[in-house]
Amino acid sequence: MKASRYFFVLLLFIVAGTAFIQVNQPPTPLTFMVPQGWPQPVYDFKSNPLTQEGFELGKKLFYDGQLSRDGNFACASCHQQFGAFNNYDHNLSHGIDNQLTTRNAPSLQNLAWQSNFMWDGSIAHLDQQFIFPLTAKNEMGETVDSVIKKLSADTTYTRMFAQAFGNGNITGQKIGKALSQFMVMLVSSNSKYDKVKRGQASFNQSEALGYDIFKNKCSSCHTEPMFTDNSFRNTGMQLDYSLNDLGRMNVTKDTADFMKFRVPSLRNVQVTFPYGHDGRFYRLYDVMEHYRNNLVAVPNTDPLVKDKIPLTPYEIGRLTAFLNTLTDSSFLTNRMFVPDSFIISPSLMHTH
Ligand code: HEC
Ligand code: HEC
Repeated sequence: MKASRYFFVLLLFIVAGTAFIQVNQPPTPLTFMVPQGWPQPVYDFKSNPLTQEGFELGKKLFYDGQLSRDGNFACASCHQQFGAFNNYDHNLSHGIDNQLTTRNAPSLQNLAWQSNFMWDGSIAHLDQQFIFPLTAKNEMGETVDSVIKKLSADTTYTRMFAQAFGNGNITGQKIGKALSQFMVMLVSSNSKYDKVKRGQASFNQSEALGYDIFKNKCSSCHTEPMFTDNSFRNTGMQLDYSLNDLGRMNVTKDTADFMKFRVPSLRNVQVTFPYGHDGRFYRLYDVMEHYRNNLVAVPNTDPLVKDKIPLTPYEIGRLTAFLNTLTDSSFLTNRMFVPDSFIISPSLMHTH
Protein backbone atom coordinates (compact mmCIF):
# COMPACT_ATOMS: atom_id res chain seq x y z
CA MET A 1 0.00 0.00 0.00
CA LYS A 2 2.81 2.32 0.91
CA ALA A 3 4.56 1.43 -2.31
CA SER A 4 1.55 2.25 -4.40
CA ARG A 5 1.25 5.61 -2.67
CA TYR A 6 4.88 6.31 -3.55
CA PHE A 7 4.15 5.26 -7.05
CA PHE A 8 1.19 7.64 -7.16
CA VAL A 9 3.30 10.55 -5.87
CA LEU A 10 6.00 9.71 -8.38
CA LEU A 11 3.41 9.64 -11.16
CA LEU A 12 2.15 13.03 -10.03
CA PHE A 13 5.66 14.44 -10.28
CA ILE A 14 6.10 13.04 -13.75
CA VAL A 15 2.80 14.50 -14.91
CA ALA A 16 3.51 17.87 -13.28
CA GLY A 17 7.01 17.72 -14.72
CA THR A 18 5.86 17.33 -18.30
CA ALA A 19 3.31 20.12 -17.89
CA PHE A 20 6.09 22.28 -16.47
CA ILE A 21 8.32 21.61 -19.47
CA GLN A 22 5.55 22.37 -21.90
CA VAL A 23 4.93 25.81 -20.47
CA ASN A 24 8.46 26.77 -19.58
CA GLN A 25 10.39 25.59 -22.57
CA PRO A 26 12.19 28.79 -23.54
CA PRO A 27 11.11 30.25 -26.88
CA THR A 28 13.58 30.22 -29.77
CA PRO A 29 15.43 33.54 -30.11
CA LEU A 30 15.05 35.32 -33.44
CA THR A 31 17.90 37.50 -34.66
CA PHE A 32 17.15 40.99 -35.92
CA MET A 33 19.44 41.75 -38.83
CA VAL A 34 20.51 45.35 -39.36
CA PRO A 35 21.06 45.79 -43.10
CA GLN A 36 24.56 46.78 -44.14
CA GLY A 37 25.18 50.52 -43.83
CA TRP A 38 21.97 51.22 -41.90
CA PRO A 39 21.87 52.95 -38.51
CA GLN A 40 21.09 50.98 -35.35
CA PRO A 41 17.34 50.52 -34.78
CA VAL A 42 15.67 52.51 -32.01
CA TYR A 43 13.13 49.85 -31.01
CA ASP A 44 13.79 48.59 -27.46
CA PHE A 45 14.47 44.91 -28.11
CA LYS A 46 15.58 44.41 -24.50
CA SER A 47 12.07 44.94 -23.17
CA ASN A 48 10.61 42.68 -25.87
CA PRO A 49 13.17 40.10 -27.01
CA LEU A 50 12.33 38.69 -30.43
CA THR A 51 11.48 35.01 -30.58
CA GLN A 52 10.18 32.71 -33.29
CA GLU A 53 7.11 31.97 -31.15
CA GLY A 54 6.43 35.66 -30.45
CA PHE A 55 6.74 36.49 -34.14
CA GLU A 56 4.36 33.66 -35.14
CA LEU A 57 1.84 34.77 -32.53
CA GLY A 58 2.07 38.39 -33.69
CA LYS A 59 1.54 37.30 -37.28
CA LYS A 60 -1.56 35.28 -36.33
CA LEU A 61 -2.97 38.26 -34.42
CA PHE A 62 -2.21 40.65 -37.29
CA TYR A 63 -4.30 38.57 -39.69
CA ASP A 64 -7.11 37.74 -37.24
CA GLY A 65 -10.53 39.36 -37.68
CA GLN A 66 -11.34 38.48 -34.05
CA LEU A 67 -9.51 41.64 -33.08
CA SER A 68 -12.50 43.58 -34.43
CA ARG A 69 -16.05 43.71 -33.09
CA ASP A 70 -17.74 42.03 -36.06
CA GLY A 71 -14.90 39.64 -36.85
CA ASN A 72 -14.27 41.13 -40.30
CA PHE A 73 -11.47 43.61 -39.79
CA ALA A 74 -7.99 42.32 -39.21
CA CYS A 75 -5.00 44.63 -39.08
CA ALA A 76 -4.12 43.07 -42.43
CA SER A 77 -7.33 44.29 -44.04
CA CYS A 78 -5.95 47.84 -44.05
CA HIS A 79 -2.26 46.87 -44.10
CA GLN A 80 -1.83 44.63 -47.14
CA GLN A 81 1.49 43.03 -47.97
CA PHE A 82 1.34 43.70 -51.71
CA GLY A 83 1.02 47.40 -50.89
CA ALA A 84 4.01 47.30 -48.49
CA PHE A 85 1.41 46.81 -45.75
CA ASN A 86 -0.44 49.99 -46.62
CA ASN A 87 -4.04 50.08 -47.83
CA TYR A 88 -3.50 49.45 -51.50
CA ASP A 89 -5.49 51.72 -53.79
CA HIS A 90 -7.46 53.39 -50.94
CA ASN A 91 -7.17 57.05 -50.08
CA LEU A 92 -8.97 56.56 -46.76
CA SER A 93 -9.30 53.06 -45.33
CA HIS A 94 -12.63 51.36 -44.75
CA GLY A 95 -13.26 50.28 -41.17
CA ILE A 96 -16.11 48.59 -39.34
CA ASP A 97 -19.79 49.46 -40.11
CA ASN A 98 -18.85 50.86 -43.50
CA GLN A 99 -17.05 53.82 -42.01
CA LEU A 100 -14.03 55.59 -43.39
CA THR A 101 -10.90 56.48 -41.48
CA THR A 102 -9.70 60.05 -41.77
CA ARG A 103 -6.19 59.22 -42.91
CA ASN A 104 -4.39 57.12 -45.47
CA ALA A 105 -3.02 53.91 -43.94
CA PRO A 106 0.77 54.22 -44.08
CA SER A 107 3.00 51.38 -45.18
CA LEU A 108 4.43 49.28 -42.35
CA GLN A 109 8.11 48.73 -43.00
CA ASN A 110 11.34 49.33 -41.11
CA LEU A 111 9.31 50.30 -38.02
CA ALA A 112 12.21 49.37 -35.71
CA TRP A 113 13.88 52.60 -36.85
CA GLN A 114 10.86 54.77 -36.09
CA SER A 115 10.55 56.46 -32.71
CA ASN A 116 6.96 57.62 -33.00
CA PHE A 117 3.99 56.55 -35.04
CA MET A 118 1.02 57.83 -37.03
CA TRP A 119 1.04 60.73 -39.49
CA ASP A 120 1.15 63.18 -36.59
CA GLY A 121 3.43 61.17 -34.27
CA SER A 122 0.66 60.87 -31.70
CA ILE A 123 1.81 57.43 -30.56
CA ALA A 124 5.18 57.07 -28.89
CA HIS A 125 5.54 53.32 -28.51
CA LEU A 126 4.93 50.62 -31.08
CA ASP A 127 3.81 48.12 -28.41
CA GLN A 128 0.87 50.38 -27.54
CA GLN A 129 -0.07 51.38 -31.08
CA PHE A 130 -2.54 48.51 -31.65
CA ILE A 131 -4.92 49.87 -29.01
CA PHE A 132 -5.76 52.79 -31.27
CA PRO A 133 -7.06 50.89 -34.35
CA LEU A 134 -8.55 48.14 -32.18
CA THR A 135 -10.71 50.54 -30.21
CA ALA A 136 -11.33 53.25 -32.83
CA LYS A 137 -15.07 53.41 -33.63
CA ASN A 138 -14.32 53.70 -37.34
CA GLU A 139 -11.60 51.03 -37.50
CA MET A 140 -12.09 47.80 -35.51
CA GLY A 141 -14.64 49.05 -32.94
CA GLU A 142 -13.59 46.59 -30.22
CA THR A 143 -12.31 46.73 -26.65
CA VAL A 144 -9.07 45.14 -25.47
CA ASP A 145 -10.94 43.25 -22.70
CA SER A 146 -13.36 41.71 -25.13
CA VAL A 147 -10.51 40.61 -27.43
CA ILE A 148 -8.73 39.05 -24.43
CA LYS A 149 -11.93 37.12 -23.64
CA LYS A 150 -12.30 35.86 -27.21
CA LEU A 151 -8.66 34.80 -27.49
CA SER A 152 -8.63 33.19 -24.02
CA ALA A 153 -11.43 30.87 -25.11
CA ASP A 154 -9.26 29.60 -27.97
CA THR A 155 -6.78 26.90 -26.91
CA THR A 156 -4.56 27.56 -29.94
CA TYR A 157 -4.03 31.07 -28.62
CA THR A 158 -3.49 30.11 -24.97
CA ARG A 159 -0.90 27.59 -26.14
CA MET A 160 0.82 30.12 -28.40
CA PHE A 161 0.86 32.80 -25.67
CA ALA A 162 2.36 30.20 -23.30
CA GLN A 163 5.03 29.28 -25.83
CA ALA A 164 5.91 32.92 -26.51
CA PHE A 165 5.63 34.43 -23.04
CA GLY A 166 5.92 31.55 -20.54
CA ASN A 167 2.26 31.24 -19.60
CA GLY A 168 -1.06 31.22 -21.36
CA ASN A 169 -2.52 34.15 -19.48
CA ILE A 170 -3.48 36.66 -22.20
CA THR A 171 -3.02 40.37 -21.50
CA GLY A 172 -3.15 43.52 -23.59
CA GLN A 173 0.54 44.03 -22.98
CA LYS A 174 1.38 40.62 -24.45
CA ILE A 175 -0.85 41.24 -27.47
CA GLY A 176 1.04 44.48 -28.08
CA LYS A 177 4.42 42.84 -27.70
CA ALA A 178 3.55 39.98 -30.04
CA LEU A 179 2.21 42.38 -32.69
CA SER A 180 5.42 44.43 -32.38
CA GLN A 181 7.54 41.32 -32.84
CA PHE A 182 5.78 40.66 -36.12
CA MET A 183 5.84 44.28 -37.25
CA VAL A 184 9.51 45.05 -36.52
CA MET A 185 10.46 42.06 -38.68
CA LEU A 186 8.88 43.82 -41.69
CA VAL A 187 12.23 45.04 -42.96
CA SER A 188 12.46 46.16 -46.55
CA SER A 189 16.10 46.39 -47.61
CA ASN A 190 16.38 44.49 -50.85
CA SER A 191 15.24 46.89 -53.55
CA LYS A 192 17.30 47.60 -56.65
CA TYR A 193 18.49 50.75 -54.87
CA ASP A 194 19.80 48.60 -51.99
CA LYS A 195 21.50 46.23 -54.42
CA VAL A 196 23.18 49.17 -56.12
CA LYS A 197 24.37 50.42 -52.73
CA ARG A 198 25.79 46.97 -52.00
CA GLY A 199 27.53 46.85 -55.36
CA GLN A 200 25.31 44.02 -56.64
CA ALA A 201 23.53 45.98 -59.37
CA SER A 202 23.82 49.27 -61.19
CA PHE A 203 21.37 52.00 -62.12
CA ASN A 204 20.54 52.57 -65.76
CA GLN A 205 21.05 56.09 -67.08
CA SER A 206 17.54 57.34 -66.22
CA GLU A 207 17.71 55.98 -62.71
CA ALA A 208 21.18 57.44 -62.16
CA LEU A 209 20.05 60.89 -63.32
CA GLY A 210 16.94 60.56 -61.14
CA TYR A 211 19.10 59.72 -58.14
CA ASP A 212 21.11 62.92 -58.64
CA ILE A 213 17.93 65.00 -58.84
CA PHE A 214 16.61 63.23 -55.76
CA LYS A 215 19.75 64.02 -53.76
CA ASN A 216 19.49 67.67 -54.79
CA LYS A 217 15.80 68.25 -54.26
CA CYS A 218 14.27 65.62 -52.03
CA SER A 219 16.73 63.88 -49.74
CA SER A 220 16.94 66.63 -47.08
CA CYS A 221 13.58 65.32 -45.87
CA HIS A 222 13.37 61.88 -47.49
CA THR A 223 16.80 61.00 -46.14
CA GLU A 224 18.64 57.79 -47.05
CA PRO A 225 18.69 54.97 -46.19
CA MET A 226 15.21 55.08 -44.58
CA PHE A 227 14.01 57.72 -47.07
CA THR A 228 12.63 59.74 -44.18
CA ASP A 229 14.34 61.84 -41.52
CA ASN A 230 11.36 61.10 -39.22
CA SER A 231 10.56 64.79 -38.89
CA PHE A 232 7.21 66.56 -39.27
CA ARG A 233 6.95 69.20 -41.97
CA ASN A 234 4.43 71.50 -43.52
CA THR A 235 4.71 71.02 -47.27
CA GLY A 236 2.07 73.54 -48.28
CA MET A 237 -0.77 71.02 -48.29
CA GLN A 238 -4.10 72.80 -48.06
CA LEU A 239 -6.43 71.95 -45.21
CA ASP A 240 -9.26 69.68 -46.25
CA TYR A 241 -12.11 71.23 -44.28
CA SER A 242 -14.21 68.07 -44.37
CA LEU A 243 -11.49 66.18 -42.49
CA ASN A 244 -10.16 69.20 -40.57
CA ASP A 245 -6.90 67.39 -39.87
CA LEU A 246 -4.36 69.79 -38.38
CA GLY A 247 -1.58 67.21 -38.28
CA ARG A 248 1.14 67.56 -35.67
CA MET A 249 -0.73 70.54 -34.19
CA ASN A 250 -3.39 68.07 -32.96
CA VAL A 251 -0.69 66.62 -30.71
CA THR A 252 1.31 69.67 -29.62
CA LYS A 253 -1.50 72.31 -29.76
CA ASP A 254 1.21 74.61 -31.12
CA THR A 255 0.20 76.67 -34.17
CA ALA A 256 3.80 76.34 -35.43
CA ASP A 257 2.88 72.69 -36.10
CA PHE A 258 -0.19 73.51 -38.21
CA MET A 259 -0.54 70.93 -41.02
CA LYS A 260 2.80 69.34 -40.29
CA PHE A 261 2.88 65.65 -41.11
CA ARG A 262 5.48 62.95 -40.81
CA VAL A 263 7.84 62.69 -43.75
CA PRO A 264 6.83 59.29 -45.13
CA SER A 265 9.42 56.79 -46.26
CA LEU A 266 9.53 56.48 -50.03
CA ARG A 267 10.55 52.83 -49.96
CA ASN A 268 8.14 50.81 -52.12
CA VAL A 269 6.47 54.08 -53.11
CA GLN A 270 5.47 52.53 -56.45
CA VAL A 271 2.87 50.38 -54.64
CA THR A 272 1.84 52.66 -51.78
CA PHE A 273 -0.52 54.91 -53.73
CA PRO A 274 -2.62 56.92 -53.08
CA TYR A 275 -0.20 59.36 -51.48
CA GLY A 276 -0.17 61.95 -48.71
CA HIS A 277 -1.66 61.78 -45.22
CA ASP A 278 -5.19 61.70 -46.63
CA GLY A 279 -4.36 59.93 -49.86
CA ARG A 280 -5.23 63.02 -51.89
CA PHE A 281 -2.66 62.29 -54.61
CA TYR A 282 -3.44 59.30 -56.73
CA ARG A 283 -0.27 59.16 -58.80
CA LEU A 284 3.37 60.02 -58.21
CA TYR A 285 2.91 62.60 -60.92
CA ASP A 286 0.28 64.35 -58.79
CA VAL A 287 2.77 64.58 -55.91
CA MET A 288 5.35 66.12 -58.26
CA GLU A 289 2.72 68.60 -59.48
CA HIS A 290 2.13 69.55 -55.85
CA TYR A 291 5.81 70.29 -55.27
CA ARG A 292 6.34 72.23 -58.48
CA ASN A 293 2.99 74.02 -59.01
CA ASN A 294 0.17 73.50 -56.58
CA LEU A 295 1.51 73.88 -53.06
CA VAL A 296 0.28 76.89 -51.13
CA ALA A 297 2.85 78.19 -48.69
CA VAL A 298 1.76 79.42 -45.27
CA PRO A 299 4.08 80.98 -42.66
CA ASN A 300 5.22 77.62 -41.27
CA THR A 301 5.70 75.92 -44.62
CA ASP A 302 9.12 74.36 -44.76
CA PRO A 303 11.80 76.67 -46.22
CA LEU A 304 12.91 73.79 -48.46
CA VAL A 305 9.62 73.81 -50.35
CA LYS A 306 7.97 77.18 -49.70
CA ASP A 307 9.14 78.57 -53.05
CA LYS A 308 8.07 75.31 -54.72
CA ILE A 309 10.51 72.80 -56.14
CA PRO A 310 11.33 73.43 -59.79
CA LEU A 311 10.94 70.20 -61.76
CA THR A 312 10.79 69.85 -65.53
CA PRO A 313 8.76 67.03 -67.09
CA TYR A 314 12.11 65.47 -68.06
CA GLU A 315 13.27 65.57 -64.44
CA ILE A 316 9.96 64.12 -63.25
CA GLY A 317 10.52 61.20 -65.61
CA ARG A 318 14.02 60.55 -64.25
CA LEU A 319 12.92 60.99 -60.63
CA THR A 320 10.12 58.48 -61.16
CA ALA A 321 12.56 55.99 -62.66
CA PHE A 322 14.72 56.38 -59.58
CA LEU A 323 11.78 56.08 -57.16
CA ASN A 324 10.78 52.83 -58.86
CA THR A 325 14.15 51.35 -57.88
CA LEU A 326 12.91 51.52 -54.27
CA THR A 327 10.43 48.69 -54.95
CA ASP A 328 11.46 45.61 -53.00
CA SER A 329 9.56 42.71 -54.56
CA SER A 330 11.08 40.15 -52.20
CA PHE A 331 9.53 42.11 -49.31
CA LEU A 332 6.15 42.42 -51.04
CA THR A 333 5.93 38.67 -51.67
CA ASN A 334 7.83 37.17 -48.71
CA ARG A 335 5.77 34.18 -47.49
CA MET A 336 7.28 34.60 -44.04
CA PHE A 337 4.88 37.52 -43.49
CA VAL A 338 1.73 35.52 -44.28
CA PRO A 339 0.24 32.88 -41.97
CA ASP A 340 0.29 29.38 -43.51
CA SER A 341 -3.47 29.12 -43.06
CA PHE A 342 -4.19 32.49 -44.59
CA ILE A 343 -6.49 32.38 -47.54
CA ILE A 344 -7.24 35.75 -49.02
CA SER A 345 -10.93 36.03 -48.24
CA PRO A 346 -13.10 38.53 -50.11
CA SER A 347 -14.12 40.16 -46.82
CA LEU A 348 -10.49 41.00 -46.10
CA MET A 349 -9.89 42.45 -49.54
CA HIS A 350 -11.94 45.60 -49.50
CA THR A 351 -12.29 47.01 -52.92
CA HIS A 352 -14.32 49.99 -53.95
C1 HEC B 1 -9.54 50.45 -40.78
C2 HEC B 1 -8.17 50.41 -41.27
C3 HEC B 1 -7.07 50.03 -40.32
C4 HEC B 1 -7.00 48.92 -39.51
C5 HEC B 1 -8.02 47.82 -39.34
C6 HEC B 1 -5.70 49.00 -38.86
N1 HEC B 1 -5.02 50.10 -39.28
FE1 HEC B 1 -3.13 50.58 -38.75
N2 HEC B 1 -3.37 52.40 -39.63
C7 HEC B 1 -4.48 52.79 -40.34
C8 HEC B 1 -4.39 54.22 -40.62
C9 HEC B 1 -5.42 55.06 -41.39
C10 HEC B 1 -3.19 54.67 -40.01
C11 HEC B 1 -2.68 56.10 -39.94
C12 HEC B 1 -3.32 56.70 -38.70
C13 HEC B 1 -2.86 58.08 -38.35
O1 HEC B 1 -1.88 58.58 -38.88
O2 HEC B 1 -3.52 58.68 -37.48
C14 HEC B 1 -2.57 53.49 -39.42
C15 HEC B 1 -1.33 53.50 -38.78
C16 HEC B 1 -0.71 52.38 -38.26
C17 HEC B 1 0.65 52.33 -37.73
C18 HEC B 1 1.63 53.49 -37.68
C19 HEC B 1 2.59 53.40 -38.84
C20 HEC B 1 3.52 54.59 -38.93
O3 HEC B 1 4.41 54.55 -39.79
O4 HEC B 1 3.38 55.55 -38.19
C21 HEC B 1 0.86 51.06 -37.27
C22 HEC B 1 2.12 50.52 -36.64
C23 HEC B 1 -0.36 50.31 -37.52
N3 HEC B 1 -1.28 51.14 -38.14
C24 HEC B 1 -0.57 48.99 -37.12
C25 HEC B 1 -1.84 48.41 -37.10
C26 HEC B 1 -2.17 47.21 -36.34
C27 HEC B 1 -1.19 46.40 -35.51
C28 HEC B 1 -3.49 46.96 -36.54
C29 HEC B 1 -4.34 45.86 -35.94
C30 HEC B 1 -4.43 45.83 -34.50
C31 HEC B 1 -3.97 48.01 -37.44
N4 HEC B 1 -2.96 48.87 -37.73
C32 HEC B 1 -5.27 48.06 -37.93
C33 HEC B 1 -5.51 51.98 -40.76
C34 HEC B 1 -5.82 50.78 -40.14
C1 HEC C 1 10.46 69.79 -46.68
C2 HEC C 1 10.59 68.36 -46.66
C3 HEC C 1 10.28 67.61 -47.95
C4 HEC C 1 10.91 67.73 -49.19
C5 HEC C 1 12.04 68.65 -49.59
C6 HEC C 1 10.27 66.75 -50.04
N1 HEC C 1 9.30 66.09 -49.36
FE1 HEC C 1 8.10 64.63 -50.08
N2 HEC C 1 6.99 64.66 -48.37
C7 HEC C 1 7.27 65.42 -47.25
C8 HEC C 1 6.17 65.31 -46.32
C9 HEC C 1 6.05 65.97 -44.95
C10 HEC C 1 5.22 64.47 -46.93
C11 HEC C 1 3.82 64.11 -46.36
C12 HEC C 1 2.92 65.28 -46.68
C13 HEC C 1 1.49 65.10 -46.23
O1 HEC C 1 0.90 64.06 -46.46
O2 HEC C 1 0.94 66.04 -45.66
C14 HEC C 1 5.78 64.06 -48.20
C15 HEC C 1 5.18 63.19 -49.10
C16 HEC C 1 5.76 62.72 -50.25
C17 HEC C 1 5.24 61.65 -51.06
C18 HEC C 1 4.00 60.82 -50.74
C19 HEC C 1 4.44 59.52 -50.12
C20 HEC C 1 3.35 58.73 -49.47
O3 HEC C 1 3.57 57.53 -49.22
O4 HEC C 1 2.28 59.25 -49.15
C21 HEC C 1 6.09 61.50 -52.12
C22 HEC C 1 5.95 60.49 -53.26
C23 HEC C 1 7.13 62.48 -51.98
N3 HEC C 1 6.91 63.20 -50.83
C24 HEC C 1 8.17 62.65 -52.87
C25 HEC C 1 9.06 63.70 -52.81
C26 HEC C 1 9.98 64.04 -53.87
C27 HEC C 1 10.13 63.26 -55.17
C28 HEC C 1 10.65 65.15 -53.46
C29 HEC C 1 11.67 65.95 -54.23
C30 HEC C 1 11.20 66.47 -55.51
C31 HEC C 1 10.16 65.49 -52.13
N4 HEC C 1 9.19 64.60 -51.79
C32 HEC C 1 10.62 66.55 -51.37
C33 HEC C 1 8.39 66.20 -47.07
C34 HEC C 1 9.27 66.59 -48.08
